[in-house]
Amino acid sequence: MTDSAQPWWTGAVGYQAYIRSFADTTGSGVGDLRGIHDHLDHLEWLGVDAVWINPFNPSPGHDHGYDVSNYVDVDPQHGTLADFDDLVAEATRRDIRIIVDTVPNHTSNEHAWFEAAVADPTGPFRDYYIWRDPGPDGGPPNNWVSHFGGPAWTFEPESGQYYCHLFLPEQPDLNWRNPAVADEFESILRFWFERGASGFRIDVAHGCVKDPELRDNPQIRPIDESMSPRAIFDSYDHLHDLDQDDNVHIFRRWNTVAAEYDAVLIGEIGADRVERASRYVTNGDALHQLFFLRSTWAEWVPSDWVEAITSMQTITTTGVSWALSCHDRPRAVTRFVNDGVDTARAQKRSFSLTTLFMALGGMPFLYQGEALGLSDGIVDPSSISDPLAARHPEWADEGRDGCRTPMPWDGSANNGFSTGTPWLRSEPRTGAETVAGQLADPEALIHRYRDLVAFRHGSPQLWSGEAATVAIGGEALAIERPNSFAVSNLGSEAATVDLPDGDWILGFSSCGGSAIQPASGTARVGAETTHLYIR
Ligand code: NOJ
Repeated sequence: MTDSAQPWWTGAVGYQAYIRSFADTTGSGVGDLRGIHDHLDHLEWLGVDAVWINPFNPSPGHDHGYDVSNYVDVDPQHGTLADFDDLVAEATRRDIRIIVDTVPNHTSNEHAWFEAAVADPTGPFRDYYIWRDPGPDGGPPNNWVSHFGGPAWTFEPESGQYYCHLFLPEQPDLNWRNPAVADEFESILRFWFERGASGFRIDVAHGCVKDPELRDNPQIRPIDESMSPRAIFDSYDHLHDLDQDDNVHIFRRWNTVAAEYDAVLIGEIGADRVERASRYVTNGDALHQLFFLRSTWAEWVPSDWVEAITSMQTITTTGVSWALSCHDRPRAVTRFVNDGVDTARAQKRSFSLTTLFMALGGMPFLYQGEALGLSDGIVDPSSISDPLAARHPEWADEGRDGCRTPMPWDGSANNGFSTGTPWLRSEPRTGAETVAGQLADPEALIHRYRDLVAFRHGSPQLWSGEAATVAIGGEALAIERPNSFAVSNLGSEAATVDLPDGDWILGFSSCGGSAIQPASGTARVGAETTHLYIR
């Protein structure tokens, strides 16, 4: 599938399985590793090369797995280590790789390291975390705020010190300036590589190292109590808590470990400035790819998309795992409904961008349900579960449950996700929104996604060879390579675009129509449509 002279992830397509909501085989209402194993047929049919699984380590679950209490085991609600081994074996048999999610910025407050750090302030584990005496007024040591609301510091009365947490108080941040923490993580990586993991998705990779002096962040706009946690977080310039220069060193070490196992490192990089985000990938000696978060929250503003993609491509043509949706923000189809635009048109917009992503150099990822064209699910209000919403009912709109509702497999109870009560109860999906419903309908979107993935695999000229990115007017762009030309017209009117000299074949259009049409000279590209030309 991929050129053997290149790393396996070149030209590959990834899939994100949000394990809690993917498939439950035990009736517990929570998805498990065996559920992924049992649906490998479907993933193989779709043609994906790698599956990133959200955290499945033991966890008290305050942030649905992103509060890990043991990095080298499986939470019983998601299965066992033996289930992981079975999954890897069966996936490998089908040429599908497994990418594990790891959470190095913070642990659970129930991790043995943190429990020891609290129990013995003079012991070796204290310095695994970031502790400081109160500030002069007796309050937190600096002005850092948590992503999830309130200060990024919680007071621990026994020792009279505060500990740092960029997320929930139940998620204390590790002290990456302590070499012992780096050693621990090298062991954790090796543990999963030895069990057959082919890479890691690295949570909050931009946050691990903090300013050594823990200086205040500059406040960039006024804050008042009516603002949401996210708005308050965005009211600071995160100069000292995020994206420190030393952070890249962590991943240089990880890179040498990953190389021993032919494994990929994909970091979640929340730095919005492309030149900062790309530092993690441009030398090729740290992360292999990054998730550029802007593409998972951006709404449908064509000029913004053109700017985001062209500016990132200018800096790295291979270092971004482009994704439109994930478990943290409303799905693209929900975000792309605006100004009277209906779901079908939002699906068209979404597919158009995904078609373009297939012509970019990094490994694009499809979020579970994306190939069905799903919008966010409608969650039963009594089931609201994301801490962002559950702890701040007034900001329920910012909750992430809507994009996490169970995967709709078929028209049976709970859409075939579980025979029990799903952990997140939501309105059933219609038959046409389910995997079984779409498989039975040759016109359904899922077949278009499958065709697109197959087209990428069969057309290496789409993602290999020198790439030049050209903005065409404000709302269209093209990626030109020696033997391919991808053009996206994101505007709401059809556009006429000059093709590079020579004879081309229109190999794939996000708008459908018969494939394999000859083309030369100029091309007419419909509104919100991407064409992939090859020769
Ligand atoms: C990013 C993860 O994607 C999100 O779900 C989580 O809440 C935070 N990191 C904290 O781990």
